[in-house]
Amino acid sequence: MAATDLASIAKDLVAENKGILAADESFPTIEKRFKSISIESTEENRRAYRDMLFTTPRLEEFISGVILFDETIRQSSSDGTNFAELLQGRGITPGIKVDAGAKDLALFPGEKVTEGLDGLRGRLKEYHGLGARFTKWRAVINIDGDQIPTNFGITANTHALARYAALSQEAGLVPIVEPEVMMDGPHSIQRCYDVTEQTLTSLFEQLQLHRVSLEGTLLKTNMVLSGKDANDRAGVEEVARMTIDCLKATVPAGIPGVVFLSGGQSDEESTAHLNAMNQIGGFPWELSFSYGRALQAPAIAAWKGEESNVEAGQRALYHRAKLNGAARSGGYTPEMETEAA
Ligand code: 13P
Repeated sequence: MAATDLASIAKDLVAENKGILAADESFPTIEKRFKSISIESTEENRRAYRDMLFTTPRLEEFISGVILFDETIRQSSSDGTNFAELLQGRGITPGIKVDAGAKDLALFPGEKVTEGLDGLRGRLKEYHGLGARFTKWRAVINIDGDQIPTNFGITANTHALARYAALSQEAGLVPIVEPEVMMDGPHSIQRCYDVTEQTLTSLFEQLQLHRVSLEGTLLKTNMVLSGKDANDRAGVEEVARMTIDCLKATVPAGIPGVVFLSGGQSDEESTAHLNAMNQIGGFPWELSFSYGRALQAPAIAAWKGEESNVEAGQRALYHRAKLNGAARSGGYTPEMETEAA
C-alpha cells in the first residue's frame, strides 16, 4: 500500500538502491533540452517525451519517485492513463515542482529569489487531489567573487523555502527543499564549501522557526564542487570528502535523506561522486540522487524525438538509473558504463 504519512513517504523516496527522477523542466528549460535534438517544444512532443520516460520497463527497480511539472501532472500516457496514476501503479511516487522560478532579487544585483508563495495553499490542495505526494521548490544561490551571495540574499531564499515547506506539510505533501549553490564561475571548491555551509545552516534555522518536521522533509542540494571555470578542478575523492564534511556540519540527523541535483555535472561525474560518498559512509541520512540532466541526457539523445527510438531512449534511461542505483551503496564501477543495459 502506498504510504500516506509524511515520514513514510519521505523514507520510501530514499529507499535502498533507488533515487528520484527530476522531470519537472519548465517551458523554457524543456525548450532548451529539445533544441539539442532539434525538435520543437509542442505540448504533444513534451507529452510523448515524458511518456517514453515514465513507461520505461523496470524503471521502478531504481526510481522511487518522479518530479512532474504542472502541465505534465495533467497529461496522460498514449493509452489514456494519467501520468500520476501510471507512476503510482508502478510503485513510483509522483511529486510536483511548485515554485514559479528564480527571479532577480530587487536591489541585490546578481542575486535571485524564488517566487511562488502567493496562492500556494490552494495549488497544493489541487496537486494532492491530482495524486502528488511530494513537492519541490528550488532556490538559486549564485557565487560571484567574495560579495555574492550576501547574507540577505541567502536568508531571503531560505525563508521562502521554509514557508513553502510548512505549507506543503500542512497539505500532507513531503517538501523537497532545494537550495542550489550554482557551479557557474571560476570559484574554488573551498568557496563552494563556505557558501553551501552558510546556506544550509540558514535553511535549517528557518525550517525550525517555521515548525517544519524534519522527518517529513528531504533536502535536495548541490555537491561541493569547484566552479565550472576554475583552474585545477577538484577530483572525485576531494569532492566526496568535502561534500560529506559540509553536510555533516549542517544537516540534522532527523532528515531522512539528502538527494543531490546534478547541476551541470556530466552524467558519469554525478554517478562517480555519489558512489564515492557512499563508499566513505559514516553519516546518519540516506545519500541519494534526484537528477534531471544526469539521468535524462543519454535518453533524450537516443530518442531524438522519433517514435522508432523510444526503446533506445528507455534503455538509456534504465541504464543510467541502474548505475546511480549502484552508486547508492558504493557499488558502481566505471566499467559498468559500457555494460549492456
Ligand atoms: P539537474 O540534475 O539537471 O540539476 O536537475 C535537478 C533539478 O530538479 C533542478 O531543480
